[in-house]
Amino acid sequence: MLRILVCVSGGGTNLQAIMDEITNGTIHNTEIVKVISNNPNAYALTRAENAGIEAECIAPKDFDDRTEFNKAFLKAVDIKHPDLIVLAGFLVNIPTEMIQNYRNRMINIHPSLIPSFCGKGFYGLKVHESALNRGVKVTGATVHFVDVGTDTGPIILQKAVEVKPGDTPEALQKRVMEQAEWIILPKAIDLIANGKVQVKDEKVYIK
Ligand code: GRF
Repeated sequence: MLRILVCVSGGGTNLQAIMDEITNGTIHNTEIVKVISNNPNAYALTRAENAGIEAECIAPKDFDDRTEFNKAFLKAVDIKHPDLIVLAGFLVNIPTEMIQNYRNRMINIHPSLIPSFCGKGFYGLKVHESALNRGVKVTGATVHFVDVGTDTGPIILQKAVEVKPGDTPEALQKRVMEQAEWIILPKAIDLIANGKVQVKDEKVYIK
């Protein structure tokens, strides 16, 4: 059984997709051992509690400095012995020590087709605003392993989504979530849980 720990900061629709896919059996051999948020008001925490999953808020603002926060965050993760950490809309810089300790065992969902519209400052609606401003006809989402860069880790899955005339950032965000994110994140977890993902020379191979 793959033990996953999910980190969230917002509404938690990706977390919900993972929970639903575990419940309906599309994700096999996987259990969520904990949900951690940096934001006490994240609706994702409520989703976890409603599903009977252990949930905790660990907020940087509650610590004297980043070092103290990083220590507490890493401890709260390690104590659950996760096989995989899933960043599902988590807006916190991951401590370098955690990236090293969970090399090729931490994944992130990003709402664009990396390498487009990604990196520092590209999160939430900003990604979709940039896509619309550039006038791309296709965008999408990407699941990748987390490395020390921002959105630079080995890509596991991507799914394209059409941009429609008159799209607002909100409308595009909703379509990318529905038609890409909520599909490829559960699928990536299922592939990892069933030993189908191999990383070689910073590239991902699906068996
Ligand atoms: C998603 O668009 C995800 O790609 C991005 O943050 C958003 C989180 O949404 N990294 P939710 O909290 O899962 O609804």
